[in-house]
Amino acid sequence: MHPTDLKTLQASEYLFKKIGLPESARINSSIILGSGLSAVTAILTSKQEIPFQSIPYFPESTVPGHPGQFVFGKIDDQYICIIQGRLHYYEGHDMQTVTLPVRILAALGTKNLIITNAAGALNEEFHPGDFVLIRDHIGLFLPNPLIDYNKKHLEPRFPELTDAYSKRLRQIAVNCGEELGLEMKEGIYVGVSGPSYETPSEVALLKSLGADMVGMSTVPEVIVANHLSMNCLGISVITNMAAGLSQSPLHHEEVLTVSNKIQKPIGRFLRMLCRNL
Ligand code: HPA
Repeated sequence: MHPTDLKTLQASEYLFKKIGLPESARINSSIILGSGLSAVTAILTSKQEIPFQSIPYFPESTVPGHPGQFVFGKIDDQYICIIQGRLHYYEGHDMQTVTLPVRILAALGTKNLIITNAAGALNEEFHPGDFVLIRDHIGLFLPNPLIDYNKKHLEPRFPELTDAYSKRLRQIAVNCGEELGLEMKEGIYVGVSGPSYETPSEVALLKSLGADMVGMSTVPEVIVANHLSMNCLGISVITNMAAGLSQSPLHHEEVLTVSNKIQKPIGRFLRMLCRNL
């Protein structure tokens, strides 16, 4: 078990007992699913579902398309955990709560963390339905989830993020994509708080900073996962062109419709990826 705080310890001990993992068993890879991707849990066998609200210290998820549960299961002989529904900063949770699931996954032994999200395209060569591997992020618009926390609990105090989205995992992902005939693009993700979508002027600003897609999650989770020495892979599903880049106004329903449509291919991709990690 990682050195950790009391909340994470109690929540992860609860989950460990509840799923009845053998003492020596560890979760090799975990996946956090973005909006509209809940059906991806079909890639697991021997599934056990544990709703957020039954876990000590865990708030309920309040977002449509994010049911909110840990799903444990297997791919071949590997133990995998999928988090269906995540906690967002825009729901009013502080950053330590937003990242509690990542700490729990680390406490359960997760070595590889795959984070998916829905994102709006800033890069006009991207289109709704595209998969984009995150090469790096811009997180300067959000409070850092390690503020205060790592003073009390964990070293290093000033973690570095040069390879925050593991180059090795990205190469494995590209190989899996090629094998499945899936085109994987690559880009920079900029995290914003939401819940309002950006204005067209904000979109122009974010583009000028070098970002390719924008979304309301992922950045805090990746910072904490790196601090906990997990290998991270980030995948954005482009659900819409960002505000002002297309004629139609943005709706959460549109985000859900696009990600719902690509659940099957992304599921196949994630299964192959886990087998190769
Ligand atoms: N902006 C921010 N977050 C998003 C978007 C967007 O256009 N689409 C999906 N999540």
